[in-house]
Amino acid sequence: MLYHNEWKWTLPHGPSPGVLTNYTNDLMFSMERLSFSPYQIRRLDPSYDTLAFPLPKSLAMNLTGSTLQALLDEGRLFYADYRDQAELAPTATYSANCDAYFYIDKKSGDFLPLAIRTNTGSNLVYTPADSADDWFLAKLMYNVNDFWFAQWDHYARTHEVAQIAYMAAIRSLSEEHPIMGWLNRVYYEIFAIAPLAQQVLFDKGSAVDLMFAHTGQSAKDYCTSRYEGEQGRFQANYFKTDLRSRGLVDGYGPALKHFPFYEDASRLHDAVSTFMQSFVDSYYSSDDDVMADKELQAWAKEANGDAGVHDFPEEFSSKQTLIDALTHMVHLVSISHHTVNTNELLSVSSTLPFHPSALYHPIPTSKGVKDVAKFLPPFQKVREQVCRALKIISIAN
Ligand SMILES: [Fe+2]
Repeated sequence: MLYHNEWKWTLPHGPSPGVLTNYTNDLMFSMERLSFSPYQIRRLDPSYDTLAFPLPKSLAMNLTGSTLQALLDEGRLFYADYRDQAELAPTATYSANCDAYFYIDKKSGDFLPLAIRTNTGSNLVYTPADSADDWFLAKLMYNVNDFWFAQWDHYARTHEVAQIAYMAAIRSLSEEHPIMGWLNRVYYEIFAIAPLAQQVLFDKGSAVDLMFAHTGQSAKDYCTSRYEGEQGRFQANYFKTDLRSRGLVDGYGPALKHFPFYEDASRLHDAVSTFMQSFVDSYYSSDDDVMADKELQAWAKEANGDAGVHDFPEEFSSKQTLIDALTHMVHLVSISHHTVNTNELLSVSSTLPFHPSALYHPIPTSKGVKDVAKFLPPFQKVREQVCRALKIISIAN
């Protein structure tokens, strides 16, 4: 009723296949971390990570055939942490502050959820061994945290990093420089989103206040804290550098059997990189040419100076340094951004009932929930979530 023949112009083919029917499936829940919300999950590495919370030995054995420590030692244990949302100012709705384990199953090789801790009230730890309703609610609580994370993390990770790097270029390169011409085309009207976001999302009584469990001001504060952290770093968030640093590719332990984000994004990223190589080759014949380009070096100096871009190349010392930076400039405003925002919001990551932006009943202090529906948004709020997602998408487009 909510989706069938309702959004003919904005979502003519409806939500992504399976998202409205498979939401009780554990594999779907876990694979969301490896597809449309891939920026929080990381593999734990026994050389420097410890267990965030314990699980009874017999429970872990029954669920996985291994103890938690053995999973960690074998590089099969993954972790996601949203506890930093506990510090945010709440609205009249509810959310937990989950952290969670995922693991690679030894027999099937599947990437599966293992445990979700609420860090709220009684600090319950849920697993697939709980009742179907309790476990489903745990996954809902996780998704509320992930929805918040994905939206405001993306604002810092893509919008803010791209904007400040571009602004440094505007202040350093002449309009006649070929890289400036290219940047002006790729970054057309990129600054327009900031005042719109303030008005539509963050202002008191706007979308965040109405839809989420934390306020619009909290969303801005969260963006700022993400930007000042790892997410605001330019080179550290190069596509493969980021995935390697979180142990998702080329890492310790067995490879992920299926990593949809990486598989799809790799093809696009490789194509962008090839294009940028050709572009740079057409203008610079050697590394020395790059080093001798005063405007280009001024961009690096400005970025690392007054602009305060975090982790921007200190200088463009080679053609490859420039190709990598320009490839990342494209990656930020296309692959990285569109994976977690814009149209995919409507087709996947804000689809209901599995992806509410807030809960409408207090977080339980004991297990044995009987009516999960009371935690979900009432119909009016559901319409609001969809309509506001549409409005945000139409602005962003
Ligand atoms: Fe965005």
